[in-house]
Amino acid sequence: MELNFSFFVKLLYVIIALVTFLVLYIRYKQTYWQKRGVPTLPNSHWLFGNVKSIINGTQPPAFVIGDLHKQASESDDILGIYILSKPFLLVRNPELIKHILVKDFNYFQDRYFSARSPHDKIGSSGLFNIKNPEWRQLRTKITPVFTSGKLKKAFYLIAKTAESMNKYLEQQFSDGKKTKTIGMKDVALRYTTDIISSVAFGIQVNSFDPEKVQFFNQAQKGLTLTFRRAMQFFLAFFFPNASWFVGQMLGESTNYFRKVFWDSMDSREANKTKRGDLIDSLLELKNEEQGNGFKFEGDALVGQSAIFFVAGRESSVTTITMTLYQLAKHPEYQKRAREEIQEVLKEHGMTYESYQKMKYLNQIISEILRMYPPAPLIDRVAKFDYKIPGTKVVVEKGTPVYVALGGLHYDAKYHPDPHSFNPDRFSDENKDKIVPFSYMPFGEGPRACIGKTVIYYKIFLYHWHNIVNFCY
Ligand code: HEM
Repeated sequence: MELNFSFFVKLLYVIIALVTFLVLYIRYKQTYWQKRGVPTLPNSHWLFGNVKSIINGTQPPAFVIGDLHKQASESDDILGIYILSKPFLLVRNPELIKHILVKDFNYFQDRYFSARSPHDKIGSSGLFNIKNPEWRQLRTKITPVFTSGKLKKAFYLIAKTAESMNKYLEQQFSDGKKTKTIGMKDVALRYTTDIISSVAFGIQVNSFDPEKVQFFNQAQKGLTLTFRRAMQFFLAFFFPNASWFVGQMLGESTNYFRKVFWDSMDSREANKTKRGDLIDSLLELKNEEQGNGFKFEGDALVGQSAIFFVAGRESSVTTITMTLYQLAKHPEYQKRAREEIQEVLKEHGMTYESYQKMKYLNQIISEILRMYPPAPLIDRVAKFDYKIPGTKVVVEKGTPVYVALGGLHYDAKYHPDPHSFNPDRFSDENKDKIVPFSYMPFGEGPRACIGKTVIYYKIFLYHWHNIVNFCY
């Protein structure tokens, strides 16, 4: 009895010593930035660092990191933050952001974000995720998908999908009723799915036709944001080394999309046809001589279509639905957009030339992307030690570096009255006043979003049809 008691006392001492050591170690790690003279925030939690509200699930990650940008003092160009005890650098000054994303790209070629599950080659080898030098080879191959000639063709393909959507919406009113409640997010999801399936998988689907919804249903099944998927993104963003155990990027629909991809590749190869889409570029990549290292074969090819699909779908739907929300709140802007569309259509019809003339609708979309950037964290990781220009601070190799759009786009220094929806910020008179690198919903530099132009067409054509025919 006595022996047992002394054993438990000793065990207790060991536990107390271990916990004390752990606490001191974490606290020590949380002095990393202070020791380097980098400003930090005073309210860092001893265990969770600056992201307690992400860990306890009360706020989404991008919101929290954007808020840290806002909490810093106005004169701080950089801010040291801790995610648990790991140091991350937040860059706040547009000139410095330009250095990191463009001028000194050699130091910051890769994202910190990484999905490294060995069970998910599709997720780990997509263009968003892949590291240099494979990234450069891949980006060079894929870039021709977006040349201006091909994009013009894409414009008319997208216009057709917009027409199908319009017909679907008109049918909703065939009973003669003048007003209806319609789930516009669902409409946007169907519309976006049809466009991205054409660009990324090289196939034409029609998610508005109840008999042809298999592709759409599989996309919903595989890509809907579940708790598991949210965890997957969280780990891939903040703790990529721990992301090995999370599941597949395309979830339960992985096999379905793999089959769609290879059917498309095989038929393209057999028929020797070209459509100017991603499948053409991937066929070239597959048939090229492969080096000794990374090989563009099997799931590493499927991964490219998959990342186009994943990156392009949710982001466009968010932009479309937030536009509808703001236009419904601001009928005066809605009216102005409608008048512009009607005027241009009268003169040029539904053509590419009209797209270039509809300035106000473009301003609206730009303002939506400022207020609700769908990919709100731009991240890079230092490949070598990097001295921040004009300071003595050295960013050590391996340190993750962030630009928080949720903070930058709301920084009153660059965007006065940032919480008000004001498309005129992007008018011809005002847009040149925007400080370069203080607004960048698509990122910047060699790793900026590859789908930017397609997206503008897509969002534009969606509203073009809707605003001219319906009121919100
Ligand atoms: C409103 C819609 C979209 C927004 C706001 C958006 C935004 C972004 C942002 C912020 C990045 C990171 C840029 C950086 O790190 O500097 C990115 C990268 C990327 N986006 Fe988009 N995106 C959109 C739609 C699309 C679409 C439609 C596609 C595909 C057709 C796409 C494909 C990609 C890819 C592949 C990358 C990685 C590029 C690379 O690392 O080389 N995105 N996007």
